[in-house]
Amino acid sequence: MNVLITGAGGMLGRDMIAACRARGHEVVPLARSELDICDSVAADAALTSQRPDAVINCAAFTDVDGAEDDEAGAMRINDEGAAQLAAAAQRVGAKILQPSSDYVFDGSARVPYVESDMPLPISAYGRSKQAGETSVAVANPHHFIVRASWLFGHGGKNFVETMLRLGGEQPEVLVVSDQIGCPTYTRHLAEALAALVEGEEFGIHHVAGGGQCSWYEFAQEIFDQAGVECRVMAGTTEMLARKAPRPAYSVLGSERLEPIALPNWRRGLAEYLAERQVAEAPA
Ligand SMILES: NC(=O)c1ccc[n+]([C@@H]2O[C@H](COP(=O)([O-])OP(=O)(O)OC[C@H]3O[C@@H](n4cnc5c(N)ncnc54)[C@H](OP(=O)(O)O)[C@@H]3O)[C@@H](O)[C@H]2O)c1
Repeated sequence: MNVLITGAGGMLGRDMIAACRARGHEVVPLARSELDICDSVAADAALTSQRPDAVINCAAFTDVDGAEDDEAGAMRINDEGAAQLAAAAQRVGAKILQPSSDYVFDGSARVPYVESDMPLPISAYGRSKQAGETSVAVANPHHFIVRASWLFGHGGKNFVETMLRLGGEQPEVLVVSDQIGCPTYTRHLAEALAALVEGEEFGIHHVAGGGQCSWYEFAQEIFDQAGVECRVMAGTTEMLARKAPRPAYSVLGSERLEPIALPNWRRGLAEYLAERQVAEAPA
């Protein structure tokens, strides 16, 4: 297959390139500097010249707190840009894969969210991702909307990197224990998406690291696995006020007959830390 990847310089984008190549796909990776998905003329031109079989849109406005101050900016990329890209893909007969987020849910559930559960976002970022889901689905019937959660991967800002930095600077950290979700390693997610895009299982998919935990438990596991001496103290969402509200519970489950299961988040973390160590080792 010929796969065009937008936002190819981002955390998921980078792993998507490798995962698609590993499955033998021809990959056209376009970082933001090569294609701004909000530029519909450029998007049309890129797709018309490349004629991909599938487009994987890893471009996104992902600053959850920043979106509270710039909801229009988040909408422009996560909704309008994604919709234009999906329409451009439709015009050249390509499928579209649009990653989405657990933050489309309000977090009031106490059992895992499945694909047909009603999204009710509580943040500007969540609203922009939900709007993008709908717009992409309307623009291109051959769509995969893949909700993932709590991503960590190489080359991006993520919770694991934040904890490792703080753990190197201070003896203790305060982390929320009242938000529960599924940490997901982007390499595991990308491998699943590279396979998904080959088929015709269109519609919404929930794909996240196996198991569940709080950010507090995640931080403890990061320090345990990395061998970092840093005490983790449990805080509440109220204590650690952030600009954007986050769902208290955003565990993703699936009601699909053949759900896509990723390895447990602890294994994802172990593999991430091992690969990070190799990448940082002197040549
Ligand atoms: N991170 C998470 O925890 C998480 C959780 C669930 C779902 N997701 C979803 O997973 C997907 C991938 O996220 P990620 O964590 O890989 O994000 P990321 O590391 O922030 O990467 C997003 C990429 O998109 C680029 N971009 C932004 N605006 C663009 C535009 N107008 N045109 C082209 N490229 C643009 C960014 O470039 P610049 O860096 O130059 O701005 C960046 O390279 C997103 O759809 C996100 O909503 C993420």
